[in-house]
Amino acid sequence: MLDLIVRAARLPEGKQPVDIAVRGDRIVEIAPRIEAAATREIDAGGHLVSPPFVDPHFHMDATLSLGLPRLNRSGTLLEGIALWGELKPMLTVEAVMERALHYCDLAVSQGLLAIRSHVDVCDDRLTATEALIEVRRRVAPYIDLQLVAFPQDGLFRSANAEANLLRALDMGVDVVGGIPHFERTMQAGTDSVRRLCEIAAERGLPVDLHCDESDDPMSRHIETLAAETTRLGLQGRVVGSHCTSMHSMDNYYASKLIPLIAEAGLHIVPNPLINITLQGRSDTYPRRRGLTRVAELRAAGVNVAFGQDCTMDPWYPLGSADMLEVAHMGIHAVPMTSREAMAWAFRSVTLGGAAAMGLPDPSLRVGGPASLVVLQARDPIEAVRMRATRLFVVRDGRVLAETAPRLARLAPARTARNAGPRRLCTDCRRLT
Ligand code: FE2
Repeated sequence: MLDLIVRAARLPEGKQPVDIAVRGDRIVEIAPRIEAAATREIDAGGHLVSPPFVDPHFHMDATLSLGLPRLNRSGTLLEGIALWGELKPMLTVEAVMERALHYCDLAVSQGLLAIRSHVDVCDDRLTATEALIEVRRRVAPYIDLQLVAFPQDGLFRSANAEANLLRALDMGVDVVGGIPHFERTMQAGTDSVRRLCEIAAERGLPVDLHCDESDDPMSRHIETLAAETTRLGLQGRVVGSHCTSMHSMDNYYASKLIPLIAEAGLHIVPNPLINITLQGRSDTYPRRRGLTRVAELRAAGVNVAFGQDCTMDPWYPLGSADMLEVAHMGIHAVPMTSREAMAWAFRSVTLGGAAAMGLPDPSLRVGGPASLVVLQARDPIEAVRMRATRLFVVRDGRVLAETAPRLARLAPARTARNAGPRRLCTDCRRLT
């Protein structure tokens, strides 16, 4: 007796629907037709079934705080940091946990089951750190939540930041973070990258830096991050997040830099929703988009994984834990509209994010984890195009969330001649 069978599932790379058999928390068989009984059956109806979504860059301590204590009037990164600084002294463990857990519920409903969240450690109380460590414990059965010790106000620019970062790591925070472009000088930024990588090497931890989140083409801390990664043997476990300055860099310099990034095995995490709204704010026209060089990094063999960064916080007033929305914006902002690139964008928010977080390959395969999402779409490109409804979200063989398919009931006057009432599937746009 099986625990679960998902019937007529169309895998991301597959042409013909297959059945997926689950026993316990593992996939035990994938075949065109499985003749066996199961405690529960899900009829995917030929819809896409994919690994769960992954967000490798988020700020769960700030999420859902929009308007506290006021709105960001300029819409800039720097006002967002100042605004967060106003809110920080007012934080309580309970309030941070409540917002974070609310967000985690939203994430599960969207099939988002792995999140790397930065947590600001420039607060001597480490309120958010304490709160998110508890949130990580509570959501562990259904979300892989990694925490990054993030000195938001600068490792050297902010008093006690390094001591607080070390305390946070001692408390069990998973990853070393930083923000070299926010230090007082380029040299201080360089020094911060070096120090943070050394801390990670000493402790055997990954590194994930907000790196060059700026329109300044001379912000080149990613170069130091690549060099330190190679020097200290950290290849494969270092992420450069944002890297927006690369958008504005001289092409010759970029042609030297990108192979160094590939050589160091860095993962690059652009955040299209945020980059497209925060960057270029000091431009008149033409106005820069600010996204890093996704196509060139991919061509060099670098793992590029889109992140969400923010949802309703001092930096961004929108967001919905929807990694398909993130992929959709990435396709537009890069831009990249070939079939190959759009299919890659879907992989970026599933497999790419998992690789950036250092998680096991979540591909659906025999012997792999029975964690999957049934989407109201036929293939990955349609899923991105329609930001498809997550019909079922399954983690380790257990159904965590179900959402009814989107359907529009059309009045007779609005349908084909003499057709009578018809239903329009709002995902695939077919009348039924
Ligand atoms: Fe961020």
